[in-house]
This record gives sequence, C-alpha cells and structure tokens, in this order.
Amino acid sequence: MGRRKLIAGNWKMNGLLESGQALAGDLAARMQKAGKTSFDLLICPPFTLLGSAPGWLGKSGVHLGAQDCHFSESGAFTGDVSPVMLKDQGCAYVILGHSERRVGHKESSELVAKKAAAAHKVGLITIICVGELEAEREQGREKDVVADQLAKSIPQGATAENTVIAYEPVWAIGTGKTATPADVTDMHGFIRGKVGNKMRILYGGSMKPDNAAALLAIADVDGGLIGGASLKADDFWAIAVATG
Ligand code: PGA
Repeated sequence: MGRRKLIAGNWKMNGLLESGQALAGDLAARMQKAGKTSFDLLICPPFTLLGSAPGWLGKSGVHLGAQDCHFSESGAFTGDVSPVMLKDQGCAYVILGHSERRVGHKESSELVAKKAAAAHKVGLITIICVGELEAEREQGREKDVVADQLAKSIPQGATAENTVIAYEPVWAIGTGKTATPADVTDMHGFIRGKVGNKMRILYGGSMKPDNAAALLAIADVDGGLIGGASLKADDFWAIAVATG
C-alpha cells in the first residue's frame, strides 16, 4: 500500500478566535469542495483554539492536531496538557519534539519518546520531528544527529500507523532557506533506511507554494510540515495541491 501524503500546518503561537475560525473554515470549505483528495490535510492550532476547531472543521475531513503534550495522563503539572485532553478535544495528531521545543524548552529525545508513548496509548498519531542545527551540518554531522534523534525519540510500540517522522533542518525553519532537493533526497533516504518502507516522512522548513512541488516530488517525501505558509489558506492549499 502506498503512503498517503500528509500536509500538516503548524500554526505555532498564532491565531485568535476570529482569525482561527476564518482560516480553518476556509480550508474546510476547500476540502469539502475538492471532495476526494489524494492527501490528508491537518491543522495544528495552538491549545487555545483546539476546543473550537472541530466546530469550524465540521465534516470536511480536515484533521486536527496539537503542537505538544505532556507524558502524564493528569496531575500536578501546571501549564501542561495531557494526551487524553487532546483526544477529548477532537485531536487525532500531536507534533512532538519540534526544534522550537528541543531548543527553546531544552526537550531531550528521551522526553520526546516518553510523550510519544503516552500519546500512542490514547490513540493519537505522533509527528516526531528531527533535524540538525546549521553548525552540525557545517561540521558534516547531520546524519549522526538525525540518527541519534530517531533512535532516542521513537518509542517502543511506534508503528507506521501511529507515527509520522518530520525532517526539519533547524536552519531552514522560518528562515526562507530550504534544503536543496538533493539534500532532502539524501536525508529522507537515510531516514527511510531507519524507519522502514511504511512510515511517512515529512519535510519541513520554509516549504512554500513555489518550492513545494519539487520537494513533494521526491520519492521519500510523504508530505510537509508547514509553519509560516500554513497561516494563509491560499498558500497552504497550494502546497496541498502540489502533492499532485
Ligand atoms: P516554516 O516552519 O514553514 O515557517 O519554516 C516549519 C515548522 O517549523 O514546522
């Protein structure tokens, strides 16, 4: 069975009720109009909009995900959100180990694996992010870094059904610099060798309508994790359509 393309929008810390509804509603309408698509469409708004989003998305088939979760089910964890709470709000997916969590919040791969195991337990699909820093690439260490992140971040019990990998070179996130198709082909092939033929591997890092087709055409690229361009319905939809 082929791997279905996944186009995932990571809204990061963007969106209020009005703008969130407008964006989600716009995407839902496009999806509904398109009918059967060859790609899955996913939005990951901030926690504050998750409760409202199912109402905005209706029966459009646009999936809902969160951007992080805790590894516990409940308890004394001020400010955290558990996997079952996400499930309760209608989420099907959760992004874990994004570089903005790894770098900004000092999250280790071991922590990412604990979170992913907890998310799998309640039936969430995890999008586990990996990717090297610019300095690590300059030193030629990008594959060592990614191999280490994969080995430590993917929990036992991960399958192609409950896990998606996102390769996001940190230097390409939000910078307008994308990895070249040759670099992406090389790294995705490397990751493919580690995770097997069935697991989806997304590319992320300044994916835009004008570079999406070339990146999504790469054999081991099974979709995109899109930040900036996921905040504009026209751009996000153009990327989805570029899956061909
Ligand atoms: P970007 O973000 O598309 O704005 O580079 C991607 C991501 O961080 O997931």
